[in-house]
Amino acid sequence: MSDPYFQTLFAERIGGANYGKGTEIYKFEKIKRAKRRALAEFPQRSLVDFGIGENDAMAAESVRARMVHELGLPENRGYMDNGNTAFKEAVARFMHRNFDVELDPMTQVNHCIGSKPALAMLPACFINPGDVTLMTVPGYPVAGTHTRYYGGSVYRLPLLAENDFYPDFKSIPADIWEKTKLLVINYPNSPTGKTATREFYEQVIELAKKHSFVVVQDAAHIMLTYDGPPMSFLQVPGALDVGVEIHSLSKGFDMIGWRIGWVCGHERVVRAFADVKDNSDSGQFGAIQNAAAAALDDDSIPHRVREKYRRRLEKLVEMLTRCGFKCEMPGGTYFLYTPAPKGLATGEKFENAEAASQYFITQHSIVTVPWDDAGPFLRFSVTYEAADEAAEDQLMAVAEERLKQCRLVF
Ligand SMILES: Cc1ncc(COP(=O)(O)O)c(C=O)c1O
Repeated sequence: MSDPYFQTLFAERIGGANYGKGTEIYKFEKIKRAKRRALAEFPQRSLVDFGIGENDAMAAESVRARMVHELGLPENRGYMDNGNTAFKEAVARFMHRNFDVELDPMTQVNHCIGSKPALAMLPACFINPGDVTLMTVPGYPVAGTHTRYYGGSVYRLPLLAENDFYPDFKSIPADIWEKTKLLVINYPNSPTGKTATREFYEQVIELAKKHSFVVVQDAAHIMLTYDGPPMSFLQVPGALDVGVEIHSLSKGFDMIGWRIGWVCGHERVVRAFADVKDNSDSGQFGAIQNAAAAALDDDSIPHRVREKYRRRLEKLVEMLTRCGFKCEMPGGTYFLYTPAPKGLATGEKFENAEAASQYFITQHSIVTVPWDDAGPFLRFSVTYEAADEAAEDQLMAVAEERLKQCRLVF
């Protein structure tokens, strides 16, 4: 296909004149292709899919019913700009009840159309060319991508097993600290499943004040916390002086497709976010905001979602341990992050986690997501579809049988 006349006009940030010509295949596309191959070559073998990163259930029936009601209200028809008061007030109540955090709903809370666009917009508030955003890897890369779009750069903080999967702030050179404007952290952490300790957050607050940067804590998975009550960054003294926390109804409320979340914390950061947002979108549909407010007022919803994923993760940890994997219950998220096997008893070696993941899909129809950014790890998600506990147990039995046949070497 010949190039369009505007081929040389594409911005450098998306590849410039080479835009659309790359041949590199990205991780999730490779997984998709391997799945297709497994289905074609072994049509009789069921796919055991631990690769999906999305809740398997619909939103609670009460929330869907509320949505139906809201759909009929004329006041929900228009632009919502930076959001309605009912949602902001529900957020303030939620933050107070769950974390004992007091927020002024009008100045310290702003809705977003899911946490992804909030992570995309916050760099616009701070990053000039040459500035640095500190990001943990592996992780959710959106804030880093937008940092680069604005001419900034990303300094990667690997989450290594030897550091108990926390970033090593001591390894950051002085010239990077000088240029750092943003630190993006994510707890409970995807994909490692690690939760933050109070001491870790205290260290982050101290560093933010010392080196003068803003903290963005991505709390997308916060209601999926298993190792204690969910903890907000903002409940740690001093946090409200140094940044914001981003929340989402996607994971903890089974509302992933509804696209609703919020940014809360320091008033000036929230205001800057709201200004950028106001220049980017016109707000989430009012009916969704009101249904989400009703969801936030019902603590039984995140409780139920959490207990389901806790149960599934416990079963997964037991099953994988019996198959030789070294794993323990994650602190949070619906992911289990565990060292990838090095090869097979027959002598075959896996060069990295991606090779192991490809082997599992193509040879055993078991889907996992590989991470090689900070050592070879596989991510197993428990968002697979299973109608009831018996179906979950059946799936675990199938996975166990296949994994044991592999004769894995670690
Ligand atoms: C760590 C993390 N942050 C943010 C998001 C985005 O979530 P949403 O935009 O649905 O709120 C995800 C989704 O996978 C995530 O895993």
